[in-house]
Amino acid sequence: MKNFLIAGNWKMNKTAKEAVEFAKALKAMKLENEKDVAILVPFTHLFSIADALDGSSIRFGAQNVHYEDSGAYTGEISVKMLKETGVDYCIVGHSERREYFNETDETVNLKLKKLISSGITPILCVGESLETREENLQTEFVESQIIKAFDGIDRVDVNKIVIAYEPIWAIGTGKTATPEEAEEMCRFIREIIQEIYNDSVISEQIMVLYGGSMKPDNAEDLLNKPNINGGLIGGASLKLEDLATIAEIASKI
Ligand code: PGA
Repeated sequence: MKNFLIAGNWKMNKTAKEAVEFAKALKAMKLENEKDVAILVPFTHLFSIADALDGSSIRFGAQNVHYEDSGAYTGEISVKMLKETGVDYCIVGHSERREYFNETDETVNLKLKKLISSGITPILCVGESLETREENLQTEFVESQIIKAFDGIDRVDVNKIVIAYEPIWAIGTGKTATPEEAEEMCRFIREIIQEIYNDSVISEQIMVLYGGSMKPDNAEDLLNKPNINGGLIGGASLKLEDLATIAEIASKI
């Protein structure tokens, strides 16, 4: 049976009060596959989300972190601070952070290493822009992102990272990659991991998610694909019913 992760990326949405109400309602649904469901929330909500989810196996996490332990980095949050909140996951290298906040392949790599050392599972985002796809350079682009992200990461740590393939042209646009396009890239990502580590167990076991306008009516076709282990879901994860429906679909595959 395939492992799944259905992770909601809330981005900069919901107040702490709304977040707690959502988390409590999600918990009350007692989803069959709770442990495969996560919500990735704004920093200010982490402690209250931890409380709200107490007693359930639903996971939670943050959307970014700094790679230094402490210091003069105004406005930043360290891995140690995240750890105190009890997070399971932290997104790294989301395309919005790469585009608007100067996230580079180098900082992504440093963040991955720091998170792994603290036992928080990074969700590493990769994915090409529309221009890159139109030039048919998407595989080279994603390959380069993966190689740089995994630089210096020990083979025993590879499966502590979740990869999310998120084509930028499909994020928040309502335009989903076809299940075939998503599957092809997720399979290719495993091939890159296989090439780097020369180990088919690692490349088969690593979790690879798809993200980009996943919603209840396209989730089944995407999640059915053999190389896709779940979804990183933005817009649809803000609606309780939609997130729960996608989780239920995953539980039946
Ligand atoms: P979307 O966002 O589902 O709204 O396209 C996905 C993401 O950016 O993680």
